[in-house]
Amino acid sequence: MTTGAPSSSASATHSAWPAENSTPPPATITGNLALAKRRAAASRSDRKTVLKLLNEALATEIVCVLRYKRHFFMARGLNAEPVAAEFAEHATQEQDHADRLAERIVQLGGEPNLSPKGLLERSHSEYIEGVKGS
Ligand SMILES: [Fe+2]
Repeated sequence: MTTGAPSSSASATHSAWPAENSTPPPATITGNLALAKRRAAASRSDRKTVLKLLNEALATEIVCVLRYKRHFFMARGLNAEPVAAEFAEHATQEQDHADRLAERIVQLGGEPNLSPKGLLERSHSEYIEGVKGS
């Protein structure tokens, strides 16, 4: 039969989509603006916290670089050469971590805190010189 009218199954499909209950609830401009402002404020707060934590991690990595460099230069004894090489490798790895953190801080619109002032206070690692060479 070719009447040009949609078949009953096609008609049922079209009337079932979109379902009446699938539409979002009506929103007001004022409500949306208030929600957007709350989300923006939370986002700024989260960003500030993230940047603070990243700068603390950066300080920690820098302290580790300094500590491993100290150990590299101060290695003594029969096994000094391989031990020093191990410390040098760790220092290089920690420097890479520091660089990646600084890059991420900049990507997030922050500034990496590379100031030596307060470095140990920002760091979560200690700077321990270890045993002096004899
Ligand atoms: Fe690290």
